[in-house]
Amino acid sequence: MEYTALHKLLWLLNAFTLTTQELVKLNVRPKITAECGKQVTLNCDVSSSPNGLSIKHMAWIQNQTSLCSVDEEGKIKPHSRTDFHCEYKHGQLSLIFKRVRPLESGNSKPYTCKLQSNRGASNAKTIVVVQECCWSFEGVWNEGHPTCTFRHVYPDGDVHWFHGSHNLSDGSVKQHTTKQVDNGWLTIHSYLEHNLSGVSYNCSLKSTASGRYIASSLVENPDLHAQRVRAQVHTTRARNGVGSQRPMWTFFFVLISLALTQN
Ligand SMILES: *[C@@H]1O[C@H](CO)[C@@H](O)[C@H](O)[C@H]1NC(C)=O
Ligand SMILES: *[C@@H]1O[C@H](CO)[C@@H](O)[C@H](O)[C@H]1NC(C)=O
Ligand SMILES: *[C@@H]1O[C@H](CO)[C@@H](O)[C@H](O)[C@H]1NC(C)=O
Ligand SMILES: *[C@@H]1O[C@H](CO)[C@@H](O)[C@H](O)[C@H]1NC(C)=O
Repeated sequence: MEYTALHKLLWLLNAFTLTTQELVKLNVRPKITAECGKQVTLNCDVSSSPNGLSIKHMAWIQNQTSLCSVDEEGKIKPHSRTDFHCEYKHGQLSLIFKRVRPLESGNSKPYTCKLQSNRGASNAKTIVVVQECCWSFEGVWNEGHPTCTFRHVYPDGDVHWFHGSHNLSDGSVKQHTTKQVDNGWLTIHSYLEHNLSGVSYNCSLKSTASGRYIASSLVENPDLHAQRVRAQVHTTRARNGVGSQRPMWTFFFVLISLALTQN
């Protein structure tokens, strides 16, 4: 009696290990943090699985759309998108974005790696978190106003203007800021109803995600710029003036030395 119970238990244990062996584990990083605009690679790996595994189909899928897939011969199925490409070798399928965009990111848009093999089906998920960014920005003096444009901003930001060390974004000076969404990116344009000469204006973009200033540009009043150039011309002339007097001094020195040696 006892013997059969033990036997049964062993048999159950054995069956359990067999079934756990059947499950093929996929190695996928559950979360990938990426800098906006940089290359990002999503790897799905079955290479550490037990021997005798034969892959029938393997794919990277997002929102029920297959992005990368391979057949049982390890051949990649061609696709027509240019924003990513796929690589496959030794049980590793990679989905590579050339320049990751905010559109590809977020909790609501996970990527799933799916495997069909002689040991059944497995899958694993990953999410890509794209960090805040501002790819390019410029500040110019336009129609009598300091003006700034921030392009490829993600996820969002507020523009703060400064005049020297004075923060103008406390409501004392009117600023006009507009935002435009294009292909998942934000373009932020801002100008100030203020145009003093003297010190340069500074427009800075504060990320709403982190509260950090992620971009800033100096905008110079053209009058101030002209003054600077004039001042630079003066100092250059002055320096040249000093320079041209040097040979004269050398000449006197030689004369005096000559006079002394003659005595
Ligand atoms: C998933 O795809 C469907 C159909 O193409 C689309 O309507 C939906 O907005 C997509 N969902 C996400 C989170 O992108
Ligand atoms: C400052 O603004 C006034 C009024 O809009 C304009 O007449 C003037 O040309 C501006 N000054 C500069 C330096 O742009
Ligand atoms: C400038 O003023 C704005 C609005 O009051 C504020 O949110 C921001 O933190 C200030 N920035 C600095 C650097 O003082
Ligand atoms: C503009 O002002 C911000 C906030 O005070 C500062 O962090 C940034 O360095 C300044 N940028 C330039 C270009 O001076």
